[in-house]
Amino acid sequence: YVIGVDLGTSAVKLILINQEGSIVEEVSKSYPLIQEKSGYSEQEPEQWVEKTQSGLAELVAKFNGNVEDIEGISFSGQMHGLVLLDKENNVLRNAILWNDVRTTPQCQEIYDVVGKEKLLEITKNPALEGFTLPKILWVKENEQELFEKAAVFMLPKDYLRFRMTGQIHAEYSDAAGTLLLNVGEKTWSNEICQLFNLPETLCPPLVESHDFVGTITDEFAASTGLSNKTKVFAGGADNACGAIGAGILSEGTTLCSVGTSGVVLSYEERNDRDFAGKVHYFNHGKENAFYTMGVTLAAGYSLSWFKEVFAEHESFEALLDGIENVPVGSNGLLFTPYLVGERTPYADPKIRGSFIGMEGSHTKKDFARAVLEGITFSLNESIEIFRESGKTIDSITSIGGGAKNETWLQIQADIFNAKIIKLKSEQGPGIGAAILAAYGAGWSTSLQEIANLFVEPAKVYEPIAENVEKYKEIFSLYKKVYVQTKELN
Ligand code: XUL
Repeated sequence: YVIGVDLGTSAVKLILINQEGSIVEEVSKSYPLIQEKSGYSEQEPEQWVEKTQSGLAELVAKFNGNVEDIEGISFSGQMHGLVLLDKENNVLRNAILWNDVRTTPQCQEIYDVVGKEKLLEITKNPALEGFTLPKILWVKENEQELFEKAAVFMLPKDYLRFRMTGQIHAEYSDAAGTLLLNVGEKTWSNEICQLFNLPETLCPPLVESHDFVGTITDEFAASTGLSNKTKVFAGGADNACGAIGAGILSEGTTLCSVGTSGVVLSYEERNDRDFAGKVHYFNHGKENAFYTMGVTLAAGYSLSWFKEVFAEHESFEALLDGIENVPVGSNGLLFTPYLVGERTPYADPKIRGSFIGMEGSHTKKDFARAVLEGITFSLNESIEIFRESGKTIDSITSIGGGAKNETWLQIQADIFNAKIIKLKSEQGPGIGAAILAAYGAGWSTSLQEIANLFVEPAKVYEPIAENVEKYKEIFSLYKKVYVQTKELN
């Protein structure tokens, strides 16, 4: 058996898996966000530790087997969050999370000091408010005294692992989201550290996601019931673990995942492609591999917003029932899902959404289908960037909200012009974490082989040529809407 710990933004989810590919036990414990001011989003690292500890104790208590048979544990973590420790390894302040947007001036400063071209060359990514370096600079500039005490920075799940093992490490897939890593070369960037006067010792030693980093401490063993021989493996960023858990492990595999936000994530073998920072380009949890990722900020959120405002008393199923009878293009109605701005490809926090082409005969079903189409057009903008860079995207695994409705799956096949694979069951990033633990523990010499135990296709949706053509025309109109409405705020 091994355990996957998914340290998310709202909860920590723990799963125990066996070698047959089944989830034996699962436990989830939630914790709050601390939002003191508009745009702020923090969490207390101690909460992560306490909730994981009590959750593991529950998981172990539910488990019928011998705890000595739980060989290993690994992690998936919310990305980009900043945890600062002093030289005694005490936490200096609350963690500043990925969805905290106080750092716009620091992002500008990064472009001014490093230069956009150089930043892209080293980190492969643009300066975004959510990333870690802008947060480090914010603390340095706004909490000077506290920052002087900082000895090392950590990412959320790396801090949790430190508390379990007493060992301080970072791993590549999460380090990639800091803007301090040379993503292609897999080293901390001396150059960027020096430009901001950050001592290199602030960056923890780097390991691979499946690397063994220690066993759990006696104290952690006593508080959870786990054996102190349980091996701990580094783990990965939630998106990297989500990719592992959905089998995105070889060239040509791509994932579409719709939650509140939506991502399109594509496996990338090479470290030297140039996406000009239009999509994220991060290290994978698989050794020496990468993935590119585009983000639609309001994906599932657009649909839940629509339901809330226009169909409060209906279920999602009822709201979407019948949209299969609305023709491709929703009878001329077009929706752009920019309810909270847009990440890919515009990185524009100010743009807002629209319904265009309304007429008296439109029904709620036309609107509902237009919302799904608009979300999918937005995700297609990321796919278009991948394709323009020479990637072949002809098959996409769809998970999350987008995989819950048959018509939406067909819309994806037609707009993406690719085969859409729906999985038999989807377990999210926690399963990716558990797969990393199993791989680290030596269940197989192939990460893919372990992932295959959990990734089983249930159905494939083929693109329908006639619909593909219609959607191509509408997509070119869709892209004009951004250009024509961006001044509207
Ligand atoms: C990725 C990102 C989010 C977080 C959520 O860049 O900001 O997906 O990883 O935990």
